Formats: sequence, C-alpha cells, structure tokens
Amino acid sequence: MRILVTGGAGFIGSAVVRRAVAQGHEVINLDALTYAACLDNVAEVAQSPNYRFEHVDIRDRAALERVFRDHKPEAVMHLAAESHVDRSIDGPAEFVETNVTGTCNMLEAARGHWERQGRPEGFRFHHISTDEVFGSLGDEGLFTEDTPYDPRSPYSASKAASDHLVRAWHETYGLPIVMTNCSNNYGPYHFPEKLVPVVIINALEGREIPVYGAGANVRDWLYVEDHAEALLQVVQKGAVGRSYNIGGEGERRNIDLVRHICAVLDDRRPKDTSYAEQITFVADRPGHDHRYAIDARRIRDELGWRPSVTVEEGIARTVDWYLANEAWWRPLMARQGVGTRLGRAEGAA
Ligand SMILES: NC(=O)c1ccc[n+]([C@@H]2O[C@H](COP(=O)([O-])OP(=O)(O)OC[C@H]3O[C@@H](n4cnc5c(N)ncnc54)[C@H](O)[C@@H]3O)[C@@H](O)[C@H]2O)c1
Repeated sequence: MRILVTGGAGFIGSAVVRRAVAQGHEVINLDALTYAACLDNVAEVAQSPNYRFEHVDIRDRAALERVFRDHKPEAVMHLAAESHVDRSIDGPAEFVETNVTGTCNMLEAARGHWERQGRPEGFRFHHISTDEVFGSLGDEGLFTEDTPYDPRSPYSASKAASDHLVRAWHETYGLPIVMTNCSNNYGPYHFPEKLVPVVIINALEGREIPVYGAGANVRDWLYVEDHAEALLQVVQKGAVGRSYNIGGEGERRNIDLVRHICAVLDDRRPKDTSYAEQITFVADRPGHDHRYAIDARRIRDELGWRPSVTVEEGIARTVDWYLANEAWWRPLMARQGVGTRLGRAEGAA
C-alpha cells in the first residue's frame, strides 16, 4: 500500500513509518518539523527506496494539493498534530490552527485526490485521535466508541473538533474514513516533555521528579509499537466509517507508574538511594482529567488486535532504550520550553 503518513517525524508517527516500511509498504512522510519532531526517529528507514519525506505544513492547503498530485497515495494516516496538553493551556490558538484547520485541509486535499482517482473503494483516510475527547471518568466505567464527547482541555477540544470533521466528510462526501481513539502511549523516541521520559531523564540527572497533584490520575498505558501495529491493521482491515478504541490493558495511577519506573532504574543503574526519593508533588494541571480507561473489545473482536506487551515489559524496554540513547534525547532538552513547567494557566497566552 502507498501510505501518506502525516506527523511521521513525531513519536507515534515515526513508529508507524518504521513499521510500515518494514512491512513492505511505500511511505510518504509529511511533517512540518515543529519543536516536537526529530528526523532521527526515522533514520533506520530513511535510505529505503520505499520511503519519501515531504517537509510540508498541513496548514498550507496548496502544498498539500501538490503532495497528493505528486504521490497519489492509496491511504492517508493522519497523525500530525500539536499534542501536548500543557502547551495547549499556554497557547490554544496553534492547536486550533493545526489540529482543526489543518485536518480540514487534509480532508479537502484527500477528497480532491479521491475524486480525481474515480472514488476508489479501497482508499482510506485514517484519522488518529485520542481517548481524551471523551472527557474524564470516575473510578468506574470505560470509554466505548459510543461514549459521548466531552473534551475538557484546549488540546482535547481541538482533537474532538477534528474527529467531527472527519465523520462529516464521510457522511457528506462519502470519503472512506476510519478513525481510532487511543489511550496514553509511551516507548522509545517519546519527546522529553511527556511524563515517562521526564521521569527517566530527571531521575538520571539527579533532579526532582515532578508528579502533578497527588499523582492519583489514572491512565491506560499503551506501548507505542503496539499502537503502531494496531493502526496498520485498522488502515488495512477496518470497516469504512467505523471508529476503534485502542487501549493498553494497562490502567495505572500516575504515582504507581512513576514509582515503577524508579524501581526499574534502581535495578538497571543503582545508586546509594532509590530514585523514588526524587519524587516531588507539584501543583496540579488546571482541569486535569481524573481517569481515562478504554474498552477495546471492538478492535479485539473485529480485527483480532491486542497489546503484545504488559506495562511492566514495555516500561523495562523503554527505560533500557533511554539508557542506551542519551545521544538522542540530550540535544532535545535544549528545545523551547523543554524541562520547564508549562500549562499553569497563569495569565493570558
Ligand atoms: N501521545 C499519545 O499518547 C497519544 C495518544 C492518543 C492519540 N495521540 C495522537 O497521535 C498523534 C501523534 O501524537 P504524538 O504523540 O506522536 O505527537 P508528537 O507531538 O510527538 O508528533 C507530532 C508530529 O506532527 C508534526 N506536526 C505538528 N504540527 C504540524 C503541522 N502543522 N503540519 C505538519 N506536521 C505537523 C510535528 O512536527 C511532529 O512530528 C496526534 O494526532 C495525537 O493527538 C497521541
């Protein structure tokens, strides 16, 4: 399959690109290379004859038109987005421009291409979204594909808006779409502003390990390579117009996850005291959702996908990867805002 992947220089997109090329697909990686991107993430496939890179911003409609005409993709996997909740609190407008207007541009460019090709039945526009669109759960219950939308941060609101656009392009224009809503990912190449790499790097650097609030927020943790495999199955086998929730069968309280990472580090790189002693509770994120949890029965029953690793195995692999790849993460620490506390909603953006 010839797949146009947007956001393929980011965390999840690069896992999709690496896996898709390894599986023999042709991949066109379209990315604007924002602060969150790193082309090293796709270095292992960059020389493959099945890989192309397009340095394009999805806010640039004319450039998207050119990319579709040049490459004539058989499927689109749309991951490009502004993705950090804390940054969305400080500067929501950019999230609306990329996640909402950018997705509208992608849909229009894809629709034009699909029409020019004679509306092929096999074409797919796969929109990659988040479980955060469903809002916050109490201690019980799970998000299903039918859970009403209730986004509560500028990030999740912009993703929810993009999900609605994608459904509308299917209902109104017949564009053959599939959608996925996934829980929190972690794994290699995770940008060092997100929880798991922040914990590993701060621990190693001897700094405080910040935990928001009391660390009682619950997330369902999914290893990124398992997510990439789920996405490739959905784009190839998913039913047109259908959405699939993807979860890791790995619900953990933040504080328990952080303590577990510290325990793995204690084992891999022991020092006099436990890394857990560096844990520091800091002021909570405004509007911090209490709990996300996924009912992933649909993708399991209909497509046969399940996560292949437990959270414990995935965290061990991730810690080992960060220990072995300081040359990857060290330069990223100098990028704008990394390593500082963002998203406290103090004053206007
Ligand atoms: N990280 C998670 O846990 C998670 C969970 C569920 C869903 N998602 C979704 O998966 C997708 C990828 O997330 P991620 O964590 O890999 O994000 P990321 O921030 O690591 O990567 C995003 C990529 O998109 C690119 N990008 C941003 N704005 C762009 C623009 N205007 N034009 C072109 N490219 C642009 C960036 O350069 C970057 O390479 C997002 O749509 C996100 O909403 C993420």
